[in-house]
Amino acid sequence: MTIFDKFQPLAAARKELEQSCDNFFNIVMEEIVSGTEAIVNGRPMILAGSNNYLGLSFDAECIDAACDAVRKQGTGTTGSRMANGTFSGHVALEHELAEFFHCQGAIVFSTGYVANLAMLSTLVGSGEIILMDADCHASIYDGCRMSGAEVHRFRHNDPQDLEKRLRRLSKRNTNVLVVVEGLYSMLGDRAPLAEIVAAKEKYGAYLLVDEAHSLGVLGATGRGLAEEADVEKGVDFVVGTFSKSLGAIGGFCVSDHPELNLVRYASRPYVFTASSSPSVIASTRKALNILQERSELRQRLWDNANKLYGNLMDLGFSVGPEPSPIVAVNLEDKTEAFALWSGLLERGVYVNLVLPPATPSGNCLLRSSVSAAHTPDQIEHICQAFEAVRELTNAAQPAA
Ligand SMILES: Cc1ncc(COP(=O)(O)O)c(C=O)c1O
Repeated sequence: MTIFDKFQPLAAARKELEQSCDNFFNIVMEEIVSGTEAIVNGRPMILAGSNNYLGLSFDAECIDAACDAVRKQGTGTTGSRMANGTFSGHVALEHELAEFFHCQGAIVFSTGYVANLAMLSTLVGSGEIILMDADCHASIYDGCRMSGAEVHRFRHNDPQDLEKRLRRLSKRNTNVLVVVEGLYSMLGDRAPLAEIVAAKEKYGAYLLVDEAHSLGVLGATGRGLAEEADVEKGVDFVVGTFSKSLGAIGGFCVSDHPELNLVRYASRPYVFTASSSPSVIASTRKALNILQERSELRQRLWDNANKLYGNLMDLGFSVGPEPSPIVAVNLEDKTEAFALWSGLLERGVYVNLVLPPATPSGNCLLRSSVSAAHTPDQIEHICQAFEAVRELTNAAQPAA
């Protein structure tokens, strides 16, 4: 017996996948041309599967800020926030995030994944309870496991199910933390946040909202779904990431609870990892500023999102429940999904192919995501590629 024996089922699944879809494991971005174009395996490709919602990964001001920081402060901090890894940029970004969200405090983490691990594992523990939406991201699942709290899932976007469970759990007389996302990453659907806030307030629970996909995307000023739904005061903790609309890497939590600052001292994922490099912090600060100053980016993002969503719907594809920058095509059949995904690649369009168990419905998803940086011609190209591959599926029928 070897340590690798347990990987045999995985190896077999990988082999089967390789045989039916040879490109699946071989996507290499050989040259990044812009925020929306790359050379992939020798072929020019429109990138329609990144989370670069505002297109800021190639913004000239963000690049200048990053270059300036790397020259002045070096390539890395080589230390934890608790030791030598808190530079003035980290502190400034925390102030800027707190100000943007109108909150008392903010903590910056090394990734969005780490932000969820850190917050969940620290806020609740043994004897306390987490009530999470069943479709939450893996980082939330992992944070829950790390917390040692009792974890219950409620049905996706079902506030009645949440309330029923809150009512039952209220007899236990312990802390309950409800965890949801703003915009869900796979289907691009919004959480019914007003009802969730009403339920958590009725039972005296706490609420953490992961706005990873909604920062810069939703809300009059881009603060996310809580802003759009006008329930910011009812949200105890907002978690987010710098790796999507801010075009960098990193994560954060903001809160109006003055005790947020204490999380730093109790959180292993904060203490025992190196802090973000100065260039990342500098580009993120610039991107956060642009997010606030240039609302036209959000408008362009939504114009593109509505166009792609509407077009794919007209082509007869089974898309997610509402228009959003995440436009996911649902396919029951794996072979069909491989054929469509490969067909799109051949036509110079990269979208994410997401397979069960990573999908909420157990179906396959062709997950496109739209950017403010996509030109009208690129959106048109993506739509035409979907139209061309439509014949490879029985699922899509033109709308009447
Ligand atoms: C909802 C959600 N939360 C957290 C994360 C993790 O963010 P990061 O990639 O910045 O670690 C993701 C990443 O896709 C996500 O979709």
